[in-house]
Amino acid sequence: MPLSPSHPLIDGRTTQAPLIRAYRGDRPERTPVWFMRQAGRSLPEYRELRAGGDMLQACLTPELASEITLQPVRRHGVDAGIFFSDIVVPVLLAGVDVRIEAGRGPVIDAPIRSASDVLRLRPIDPDALAPVREAVALTVAELGSTPLIGFAGAPFTLAAYLVEGGPSKDQLRTRALMHSDPHTWAALLNWCADVTGEFLRAQVEAGASAAQLFDSWIGSVSQRDYLRRVAPHSRRAFDHLRGLEVPKVHFGLGTDRILTEIKGLGVDAVGIDWRLPLDEASEHLGGDVPVQGNIDPALLSAPWPTLRAHVDDVLERGRTAPAHVVNLGHGVPPETDPDVLTGIVRYVHGESQG
Ligand code: CP3
Repeated sequence: MPLSPSHPLIDGRTTQAPLIRAYRGDRPERTPVWFMRQAGRSLPEYRELRAGGDMLQACLTPELASEITLQPVRRHGVDAGIFFSDIVVPVLLAGVDVRIEAGRGPVIDAPIRSASDVLRLRPIDPDALAPVREAVALTVAELGSTPLIGFAGAPFTLAAYLVEGGPSKDQLRTRALMHSDPHTWAALLNWCADVTGEFLRAQVEAGASAAQLFDSWIGSVSQRDYLRRVAPHSRRAFDHLRGLEVPKVHFGLGTDRILTEIKGLGVDAVGIDWRLPLDEASEHLGGDVPVQGNIDPALLSAPWPTLRAHVDDVLERGRTAPAHVVNLGHGVPPETDPDVLTGIVRYVHGESQG
């Protein structure tokens, strides 16, 4: 089914937005910029709205999720909103008992580690996604010509939370399962691809103008395992967008060895973490893929001249790619001074527009 006639990419609201043009390989007059985790604890208005409330409950309250999504767009003047939600929301909506612990992340008390655990996993009921659709629709109605980016967790990263039962340093149990029981692994990743793919599709159908898959923990996987045991499932997640013509973006940490394989997923743009200079990334990608990134989040607390020199370097290296969307190399740290983010937006826009 194609995008509806009232979708912002079809009725023209976001078609010429700098972000969309850049994802499609163009160099708009204004270099687009947004920040991963721009909605969140760095903003006092977020902390006030969230005070005391449960994180996942907030994600599923449409008015609240929409308002939180809009906060950083209003404050910073970024070129995109990123939908306020979490990668484990579709897991919760499919009936898995998951919660988010502040300062830690997603926690699952009954981890999924065996064939019978995987057999018990149910598909997501399309009706369960209603609050997501509603929140996206409310947000897009407010955003006008600013595109909303929909997102989802990639199957590997989701599986890592399910198998480990929470955040982990090396994903040892996850990689052990991948090799000791390849059939269970494949079934688990297919399930992850389908719930996350449906979550992504719901956002795009409801009005998101781009779709980003986050594979935050993929850096622990070898190139060979990525190709054989992970990439087909990431492709399956994106396949849920078939027929919906929105730019597809991939972001992962520590992806320098697997950029060719990521390009092979058929994505329109690739997000790069802060460790790999964008000119090198672009070279690995064959020089024909738009890149996104990669200001080091650590430098957000540095004096402005230091940060500015770093931003200049990122912009300079980004010029070697066909197109560049400025972002951080990972999420905004909660203790970031929001004025620094606003300053980066003004600087990047000013530089690109003379
Ligand atoms: O602006 C945005 O980017 C908004 C939406 C967003 C959130 N999580 C909100 C959130 C997005 C895109 C995510 C993705 C996400 N969630 C990822 C992939 C990106 C990445 O950071 O690598 C991952 C791995 C998660 C899992 C997760 N959820 C973690 C590790 C945490 C942090 C726990 C903590 O307290 O430090 C969360 C919670 C979370 N997700 C918060 C927000 C705003 C903080 C919760 C709070 O305010 O109490």
